[in-house]
Amino acid sequence: MTEESFLNDLSLSLHEAWHLLQSGAGDRHSPLHTPAVATVTGDGIASQRIMVLRSVDQAKRQLRFNTDVRGSKVADIRRNGTVSILGYHPEAKVQLRLSGTAVVQSEGPVADAAWQQATLYGQRCYLADPGPGTPAGSPTSGLDPDIEGVKPTPEQVRPARANFAILLVDVQTIEWLYLAHTGHRRARFDWNEAAHEWNSTWLVP
Ligand SMILES: Cc1cc2nc3c(=O)[nH]c(=O)nc-3n(C[C@H](O)[C@H](O)[C@H](O)COP(=O)(O)O)c2cc1C
Repeated sequence: MTEESFLNDLSLSLHEAWHLLQSGAGDRHSPLHTPAVATVTGDGIASQRIMVLRSVDQAKRQLRFNTDVRGSKVADIRRNGTVSILGYHPEAKVQLRLSGTAVVQSEGPVADAAWQQATLYGQRCYLADPGPGTPAGSPTSGLDPDIEGVKPTPEQVRPARANFAILLVDVQTIEWLYLAHTGHRRARFDWNEAAHEWNSTWLVP
């Protein structure tokens, strides 16, 4: 979409935001393929990490990420599902700050399909033992040396399925910032569940 079409149009800006997210999920070269995802720790502190955006369902306002059930983000989300997601697309000149509620699903058809879609190398990450974040006395990938540096077989990665989960984020707000040399534009979109529509407003950038 061209700048002229959405610059002064809230609904087209929202449309462009979803378009950028969708292409971020599908295009590994897009900067929105790897946004920062923040959770809230048990101490009430924000904790961010980069994650690969795997899929976007605009109709459901849902984003999907893959992760290891043993990671600290999963513990955070099980305690408090509030998440914030941040990305910047320099070519599109758009910053997106989303917030919403996340759930972790390690079983079910969507998690199974996500596991099947992952490559053997991708699945291998979930074989780390002990789990991510465990202190180690020496430098380690967490993987058995036998499968480091080689393509694992489906049999070898099978036990990793138990550590794999999807993280589904129900997007509740989208904050849009578009950088334009003529004058930036900032907008906020809040999902109104009762009316089943987005409440939209411009903000001073
Ligand atoms: C480019 C990139 C992509 C990443 N993708 C993921 C991902 O999709 N899922 C994930 O759990 N961690 C991913 N990570 C690792 C996380 O940033 C993080 O280090 C790890 O998951 C541990 O996070 P936690 O202790 O907060 O749970 C990625 C890191 C980078 C640099």
